[in-house]
Amino acid sequence: MTARAESKRQRGLSDADIARKIDRLLSQMTLEEKVGQMTMVENNSITPAQVAEFFIGSVLSGGGGNPTPNTPENWRAMVCAFQEAALETRLAIPLVYGVDAVHGHNNVKGAVIFPQNIGLGASRDADLVERIGRVTARELLATSVHWTFAPSVSVPQDLRWGRTYEGYSANSQLVGALGAALVRGLSGRCCDEDRGVLACAKHYVADGAARWRESPLAEQAPQQGSTAPPQDSAAPQAVELALGQWRIDQGDACIDEASLRQTHLPPYQAAIAAGALTVMASYSSWNDEKLHGHRYLLSDVLKGELGFDGLIVTDWMAINQLDPDYQQCVVQAVNAGIDMVMVPYDFRCFISTLKRAVQQGDVAQERIDDAVRRILRVKLALGLFDQPIGDASLLQSLGCAAHRQVAREAVRKSLVLLKNDRRSLPLPKDAPRLLVAGRAADDIGLQCGGWSISWQGEAGATTSGTTILEGIRAAASDSTVIDYSPDGQFADDARAAVGIAVLHEEPYAEGFGDRADLALSSDEIDLLQRVRARCDQLIVILITGRPRIITEQLPLIDALVVAWLPGTEANGVADLLFGDFPFTGKLPFSWPRSMDQIPLAALEASAEAPLWECGYGLTS
Ligand code: GLC
Repeated sequence: MTARAESKRQRGLSDADIARKIDRLLSQMTLEEKVGQMTMVENNSITPAQVAEFFIGSVLSGGGGNPTPNTPENWRAMVCAFQEAALETRLAIPLVYGVDAVHGHNNVKGAVIFPQNIGLGASRDADLVERIGRVTARELLATSVHWTFAPSVSVPQDLRWGRTYEGYSANSQLVGALGAALVRGLSGRCCDEDRGVLACAKHYVADGAARWRESPLAEQAPQQGSTAPPQDSAAPQAVELALGQWRIDQGDACIDEASLRQTHLPPYQAAIAAGALTVMASYSSWNDEKLHGHRYLLSDVLKGELGFDGLIVTDWMAINQLDPDYQQCVVQAVNAGIDMVMVPYDFRCFISTLKRAVQQGDVAQERIDDAVRRILRVKLALGLFDQPIGDASLLQSLGCAAHRQVAREAVRKSLVLLKNDRRSLPLPKDAPRLLVAGRAADDIGLQCGGWSISWQGEAGATTSGTTILEGIRAAASDSTVIDYSPDGQFADDARAAVGIAVLHEEPYAEGFGDRADLALSSDEIDLLQRVRARCDQLIVILITGRPRIITEQLPLIDALVVAWLPGTEANGVADLLFGDFPFTGKLPFSWPRSMDQIPLAALEASAEAPLWECGYGLTS
């Protein structure tokens, strides 16, 4: 029995009960109330009073759409204010609040932030991922948030993609297994009230197969989070882009249907079987046809062939990319099978446009009723009508030690040991001296990466947690002298048997993380060489959202550990450096020798083997 069926059974709700309640509500609803339910607005662009006035079905916080101050209590107050307004409407249909809790409740200061999906892919541990889902659900419900836009079940095929780290692996089967595990954890029983939250499998479909473009996307949806909405939300704004950015994200997957069905569809089948009730459409295209307007893939395949009876939600302003004319955008998307539109700013424009399309016969009433039926079905199955407000007592557990222990275990299981010459690892806890270098050795923001407190993520003490350096200090003996230098510029006489260099990518999200070249930066190489010159054994730790080109530097390195983006509990790194736990992680992607072996198709055609195959990892 799926988590969803179990959850409904436990609430005493049969499918027939749900169908009757939907029919009763639908028969009473006006067109305004129906269109309102199909409208999702970002939290800085609407007031609670307007939620009631326009019968809004959902409000979201985009990446970084945090209340000020950003505290769990303030999050709860913000979300409850919107919900209480929705419950004041004539039919008291609760709204559902959504966030990108993609590695914990990662927008909220003080919440536990887990390793990004690529690290969980290295763990290959479905039970761990399910437990992460349960902890995340508890922390979401503490703030009365009932929907997370996770898991990403992308199957990244090109490491240059800025969303590679949001994917578990290039192995479709592993993606499906871990994505389904997160769905079970999120939507199953997570606390006394026997309830979970809504999961959302995204981005449907084949977003990970988009090919590299020689020019950036001409127009980008405006920045997310707390920025002021643009004047005219019907037309996307151009955003000044640095070289290399937005060259692959939201691109075109030029693959045949057999490949789409073999590689990119199965994770959705697994997520739906596990109980996923929502799916987010992808910005990307399939053979030059935008997914948001793709009736065959959205309606015939996902809803028809796969039998998906939940709701399909758009991505952020994504329908605006369908056509120069906004009414055509709305008509194409809703007729293709979109049920809820993440507007996210100008909800009046969207509502009036969709109503006009129905009145003019461009969108059939039956399509509207089907979309609203799906939305009501999801809200009823979630139990939102019975319990529209999350349990306040859960606030005490948000960020608690027990939750952090799960995250620390996840960090341990995510690390991959790629080289360990001269048995450099594990380190003795009583080493007389250690040199540690690198900004990312002591920076919570850098170790979390994108989608952490803010949309793009940022360096600094952005939230509470433990850095790699703090973990090393705690694990080493009191007699060990630990020299730390963010840039490797140690005092002239500084020298030790062991040096640890922590290299890192600057945080990024989405297309801002697209890169033409994955080689180490000059800063990373300088840091590595500075430490190399002062130690007998050099340990390199990579903080990265993807494999990097490190072939040239490899001979300088005695032990190489990839920590991916570990999140707030980076003391898990020291647990393995000092041998308290063994290395068990395995590469979720093959590690290319050079840029000539990217994308995956180039690697498969290459005469040379990669540096390390997917599935590789030493055990110490
Ligand atoms: C973003 C992302 C999507 C996210 C949504 C809401 O642009 O593509 O993954 O869930 O907007 O923040």
